[in-house]
Amino acid sequence: MNGTALQAAVFAALAWTMPAAAQQPAAPSAPDNEPLNVGQLFASTCGFCHSDGGRAAGRGPQLMDSPRDDEFLRNRIKNGKNGAMPAFGASFSDAQVNEIIKYIRALKPHQG
Ligand code: HEC
Repeated sequence: MNGTALQAAVFAALAWTMPAAAQQPAAPSAPDNEPLNVGQLFASTCGFCHSDGGRAAGRGPQLMDSPRDDEFLRNRIKNGKNGAMPAFGASFSDAQVNEIIKYIRALKPHQG
């Protein structure tokens, strides 16, 4: 294999193993106990994958009316899912994750 072919092969291997999630900007970390503007947070940090504030599916599933229990949602937000969703456990305090779960539970379809 010549150098160029090797480079191409390495590049292809890297591109293939790079999870889509790793290409997303890291979540801005808010200081603990600072109230979150969850709607804004969703638009900026989660909306890339969870469309319309979580009301619709995108790269990730619809969150409104989730059949999952709070523990599942908390675990997914904090730990993410390999190759699918980044982990946000280092970005948000437990209280902030609770606020995010409350936001998800309160989601309603747009009126009109
Ligand atoms: C890079 C895309 C991406 C981003 C950014 C993202 N998610 Fe996700 N999320 C996903 C995917 C994909 C899944 C489904 C994972 C699976 O297969 O179980 C998911 C699943 C979830 C679930 C579980 C829902 C269910 O029914 O399985 C919750 C809750 C969730 N995300 C919340 C969030 C929150 C809150 C944020 C922002 C702080 C966020 N996500 C950012 C891609 C993303």
